Order: sequence, then C-alpha cells, then structure tokens
Amino acid sequence: MKRVILGVTGSISAYKAPEILREFQKREWKVRVVMTENATRFISPLTFLALSGEEVIVDQFRDLKNGLEHIKLCDEAEALVVAPATANIIAKFASGIADDFLSSLYLACKKPVFVAPAMNEGMLLHPATSRNIEVLKRDGVIIIEPEEGYLACEEHGKGRLAEPSRIVFEVLSHIGKEMKGIKVVVTAGATREYIDSVRFISNPSSGKQGVAIAEEAALMGANVTLFLSSSSAERTYVKTERFETVEELREKLLEVKYDILFMAAAVGDFRPVEVFEGKIKRQGNINIEFESTPDILKEIAERKGPDQIIVAFAAETEDFLERGKKKLLEKGADLIFVNPVGRDKGFGTGENQGYLIFKDGTVQEIERAPKREVARRLLLSLL
Ligand SMILES: Cc1cc2nc3c(=O)[nH]c(=O)nc-3n(C[C@H](O)[C@H](O)[C@H](O)COP(=O)(O)O)c2cc1C
Repeated sequence: MKRVILGVTGSISAYKAPEILREFQKREWKVRVVMTENATRFISPLTFLALSGEEVIVDQFRDLKNGLEHIKLCDEAEALVVAPATANIIAKFASGIADDFLSSLYLACKKPVFVAPAMNEGMLLHPATSRNIEVLKRDGVIIIEPEEGYLACEEHGKGRLAEPSRIVFEVLSHIGKEMKGIKVVVTAGATREYIDSVRFISNPSSGKQGVAIAEEAALMGANVTLFLSSSSAERTYVKTERFETVEELREKLLEVKYDILFMAAAVGDFRPVEVFEGKIKRQGNINIEFESTPDILKEIAERKGPDQIIVAFAAETEDFLERGKKKLLEKGADLIFVNPVGRDKGFGTGENQGYLIFKDGTVQEIERAPKREVARRLLLSLL
C-alpha cells in the first residue's frame, strides 16, 4: 500500500488533521504521522496512533533503535504533507533550521513536499510569512492555499486551513502517475433549453458519473478540465467550467484541446424553435415547436485528430448493446459506455453499471459499482 507522511504542527486547526488522515485512508493510502512538540499540546499523539495503527514520531532523540529515521522516513513514502503548517514551521523550512524531527525530516526529504498553512490573517499576510512562503515555492514545495472564512481568533479573513478533502485531492492529483501528461476533458450533467425566460426542457442527469471520471482522472495525474452543467449540484476540486445549453457546450468543445474526451453530459436532442421573452402566462393548451439540437458529438468526432480519443456515453432503456454499437458507428467515437437508465437506474443514483463497447466490436461488461469505481475502470481500460 502506498504511504504519505503527515506532519502536524501547533495550530488550533490541528484538530482537523485526523480528518486528513482518514481522507487518505479512504483512498487506501497508509499514513505515518510526525508531530511537533507544540502540536501535542493541541491534539494527542494517541489519536493518530489509534487511527493510523503506527507509532507517531515527535522526539528526534527518542530511542534510536530504528536508526536515523529523519533521513530514511521519506524514502518509504510518496510525499511529505505538512497540514496544518504554522508560521513557525514555514519559517524554519524556509531558512533550513532543523531543530526538531519534522524540520530535520523536511531537509532530508527527496520526495514532493506539500505545505498547508493555517494561521490568523495577520500572521499569514505578514511580510515575513509571505516571504517564507515564496521561498518555499521557489524551493519546489507545493503550497495548498489556505481559505477565507471565520478564523479561530473570531476574525473573518484568509488563513483557514484548506478543507481536508481538498488537501488530499491536491496531494494525490500531484503525485498521481498513471495519466501524467494526458489532457482529459469531461462533459457532465444535463443541458437546459429555455422555453421562456424561466422555464426550460431538461433531463434528470445529475452529472455524478462525469464528475467521478474527472476526479479519478485528476487523481491519476491527468490534466483535467470538466465542463459541468449549471443544473448539477455536484461539488468538485477539479478545474470546472459551467454550461447551460447545448450551444454553450458546443462552443466550449470546439475550442478545447484534449487527448481524451469523455462525453458524459446528457445533451438534449430538442430545443424550442423560439424562446419567448418573459414568462408565458397561464392559458389553455399551448403548442411549442421543437427543433433538433446540433449533434455535437458527431461534429467534434469529425474534427478529431488521429491520436485523440473520444468516449461516448449512451443512456438506454432497452437493446443496450445493439443501440450502443449503432451510436458508436454513427457518431464516430472510439468507444462508448452504454448504461441502462430508468426511473431508479443510472440517473442521479450513486451506482452505475453498463457495457463498454470498443470500435472493433469488443464488449467489456462493467458490473454494478459506485460511480467512482466505474470511473476508475473506464479510465484503466484506456491505458
Ligand atoms: C491557542 C493557540 C493557537 C495557535 N494557533 C496557531 C495557528 O493556527 N497557526 C500558527 O501559525 N500558529 C499558531 N499558534 C502559535 C504556535 O503554536 C507557535 O508559533 C508554536 O511555536 C508553533 O510550534 P510548531 O511550529 O513547532 O508546532 C497558536 C498558539 C496558541 C496558543
């Protein structure tokens, strides 16, 4: 199992460090915790020992039966993550002071180092801290920017430790290797076509599957852009641009560069010929004329270069394989993921299943699994 080292320092937000540890564990990473002496005044090493199942290192001069651990520890890990990082540890890292285990470990570490500052806004914006953070950046450290919000000092401002899930996402997406250097674009969610100023025709796609693909690709090290419909309530740390109509999505796709494009958005096939200004008043029956929307998948596939891959998606209610194969050929995509949808299947649920059909007619069944797992399987089938 892969491992990271989590350095915890004497910040009030040290209470969030166990959550960071748990987030790594959820993704099947092992965590070894190193604490500063001052961090132990905020949270007990026992908490981390119980959660990680491994001894927590605080004292540089403790029983040295394991040899020079501050030199060796990083060799067995993929990264050193210091979260929360105090102004003090940042200053020590920036000037090369090594007067405790964590600061010595930092100097000896040849793996990527991530630092998530957490402090009062005054401390963060002080020229000394700003300067030290700049020095760390120049030294190759990746700073996970603190957020704005209410701080422990009862002030509003910048300096709050980044959300644990964001810290873990940023770390894992930096060190992910399987898709390093690959530009992935994912479209997700339902388009909306307006009938009047306040009403539209749409579908129940939540965008969950597309977001899961974008996130998993990012965690595998890909450079990801997500085009997510404005109707989707999904929240993500992936670089996201919102769209509403088929035309808006089309314009984005015509401009974007990609190696692999996942067309997971549920794109509407029809739109009203005319959009009424204002709100149509209640009346007897009304007739609305619809026209077909542009076939963006086909259009994008026609412009595709020989090394680009397009993965189409088809939500079908019956004859999955037949319809999938037909759509794959008609649209000119490289492969298609066909999934059964209905009132209780596919749309909006946490799980998915389906068939991956390749151009040569090969079919790979993807059994029912959480959408995140389905996303991983789709991505791995392309590598
Ligand atoms: C209640 C309390 C909360 C603190 N919170 C922070 C903090 O969020 N960020 C910070 O940089 N320092 C904070 N400090 C100051 C640090 O604990 C102090 O600079 C300490 O020397 C840091 O030691 P370390 O970097 O070795 O862990 C806090 C101090 C106290 C008493």
